[in-house]
Amino acid sequence: MSKQSNVIAPSILSADFARLGEEVKDVLSAGADWIHFDVMDNHFVPNLTVGPMVCESLRKNDINCPIDVHLMVEPVDDLIKMFADSGATSITFHPEASMDPEKSLELIENLGCKPGLVLNPDISLNVLKPFLKDLYMVLLMSVFPGFGGQKFIPEVIEKIRDLRNLIDESNNIIRLEVDGGVNSDNVSQISLAGADTFVAGSAIFNHKNYSHAVKTLRDNFS
Ligand code: DX5
Ligand code: ZN
Repeated sequence: MSKQSNVIAPSILSADFARLGEEVKDVLSAGADWIHFDVMDNHFVPNLTVGPMVCESLRKNDINCPIDVHLMVEPVDDLIKMFADSGATSITFHPEASMDPEKSLELIENLGCKPGLVLNPDISLNVLKPFLKDLYMVLLMSVFPGFGGQKFIPEVIEKIRDLRNLIDESNNIIRLEVDGGVNSDNVSQISLAGADTFVAGSAIFNHKNYSHAVKTLRDNFS
């Protein structure tokens, strides 16, 4: 298994938006590696969150860690450009939200960001096959996107294992990220199945002590 270093990426969806800068600084000093930035448009998913101005504002407030932008919007290309200009590090999108996923991945790369695709729980891994050589990361959703605090769908464990094999067999270096319902009870199983990048919203931000929450996740990696 050619897993990369483990990364914990707290999702700002569960942060206190009135104090977002402080919240982000707090989780980073608590040991988080990246910030996961959920972008929802009330069209591709039912919820509505924040756009590139907020990403830019974090950058202007000395947030220098990788910002992992997860686009849950349709179409994707205009927002890809705006987020690249606003300081995104990686940008992932759902292939069904793009007219031409290959071109959208190329756009992300050409704008200097790291490209990735996101698969909802009911989307087959086969969708990824034509794009494997172009991907920095694959994000597997373990809930249906739209809201934080949902329950991890256990069937996704097998999909993580299958994706791990697909990545390893392809000989490409691709991060395997999991998003939705990740917590200290299931993180070891998720890690053992082959994930290396862990999004956690409520498991961190709903915890009183962020350092403890981050450490508990890290202690459970396989
Ligand atoms: C769901 C989002 C997730 C979510 C994770 O649509 O993409 O990033 O905020 O939150 P938890 O960890 O609470 O499921
Ligand atoms: Zn997300």
